[in-house]
Amino acid sequence: MSERDLRPGGREQWASKIGFMLAAMGSAVGLGNIWRFSYVAGENGGAAFLLLYIAIIILIGVPIMLAEFSIGRKSQSDAVGSFQKLAPGKPWVTAGFLGVASAFIILSFYGVVAGWTLKYFVSYLTGGLWSEPADGYEAFFGGFIGSSVEPVIWQFLFMALTVGVVLMGIKKGIEKANVILMPTLAILLIIMSVYSLTLGGAQEGLAFLFAPDWSVLAEPSIYLAALGQAFFSLSLGMGALITYGSYLSSKERLPGATAGIASLDTVFAIVAGVMIFPAVFAFGIDPSSGAGLVFIVLPGIFDQITGGMLVGIAFFFLLAAAGLSSAISLLEVAVAYFMRKFSWTRKKTALFIGGLIFLLGIPSSLSMGVMADVTFFGLVFMDGMEYLSDLFLPLGGLIIALFVGWGWKKAESLEASDFGSSGIGAFWLFLLRFVAPVAILLVFLAQIGLLDWILNFFGVQL
Ligand code: PFF
Repeated sequence: MSERDLRPGGREQWASKIGFMLAAMGSAVGLGNIWRFSYVAGENGGAAFLLLYIAIIILIGVPIMLAEFSIGRKSQSDAVGSFQKLAPGKPWVTAGFLGVASAFIILSFYGVVAGWTLKYFVSYLTGGLWSEPADGYEAFFGGFIGSSVEPVIWQFLFMALTVGVVLMGIKKGIEKANVILMPTLAILLIIMSVYSLTLGGAQEGLAFLFAPDWSVLAEPSIYLAALGQAFFSLSLGMGALITYGSYLSSKERLPGATAGIASLDTVFAIVAGVMIFPAVFAFGIDPSSGAGLVFIVLPGIFDQITGGMLVGIAFFFLLAAAGLSSAISLLEVAVAYFMRKFSWTRKKTALFIGGLIFLLGIPSSLSMGVMADVTFFGLVFMDGMEYLSDLFLPLGGLIIALFVGWGWKKAESLEASDFGSSGIGAFWLFLLRFVAPVAILLVFLAQIGLLDWILNFFGVQL
């Protein structure tokens, strides 16, 4: 690391505003937009889920994202240190510890799925997937993820890449990697969704994604699924954006950056839906068939395109790359914390923490095969980890919203966010103080069945 990477206080920082924007976008846009969004939307009824998801992004996600950036930039510290610095001795720091725990949990299974994308990329590169495998794409995927050793090797390779970038630091590693990859991924997604629309399942696919069947809203679990997915996709609630905000100087305008990042992330998810669902219907696949959706549906599309293997190579390369830019931010949350806490070097911390997270991911990988019978609360290990992230991220977000909404003085919050005295700043605080916390609490209550009980108690019939 050269002297120029450091500020007088010794902390690294982004080289440019666009570098920060791209890194934050790189964190937000990842497997969550393509792999996770498509299967979670598929399992939760499509269009009604999408609308709920968008409402959550606007009313809860965007305000909390701005709160995270404001905390990070103001404190110039990591997820835990931020709270300790801004509110010493107060319980708000719980959000920071939850965040570091979430980084371990999420990156452990994220590395597994990203490893699958690497495997597909290399299979396209070397010809292994240039034509449909004898027993079809579904069996190919099932056979691969169900085996014990191979997916763990891909997971290891992916984690090694992630550690490699984080090792190199903020400007040379994290910032550089994002500048080229994000624009390329956007272009490819658009081309593929246009192609998917010509496949014959377009009408049904688009109806599934855009014509709501409101009855699915009666299912209480859809709310936590949408909330968890919104936080996951925006990289919210665990201090990733606090950490990235802490490498900012005070010159940036945070509200504009926040709006840009959240919109781009949402557009990516919708375009991914437009790419996947027409093909799902064209190939007669059940949209709620789960986490394998993109690994089964997309190869089917590539099979039909002339030169589809080239598209396959490019697509899985970019998906792995999008996963990498997100994984980097997950690892950085934990690395930034442990580096400061124990005064370790960046290199040592990245290697050690990356190694631990790799080990924690192995049971997730095995839960697709040999450990498929081991369940907790009825979920296999990997699904259990995902479920935990659905709980931890909104919980972290709740504390962050309360901290900036109530823990800070009004003028302090408005200054930290660059809103100054504008009316829209007051609206932002209103969302943070009331709307986001109440909505998150209601979703939690609904999830544990308590909301139903309370409504019944008061004789309200929904
Ligand atoms: N937002 C990433 C995605 O959509 O793939 C995943 C993620 C990254 C979640 C960073 C949380 C986080 F802090």
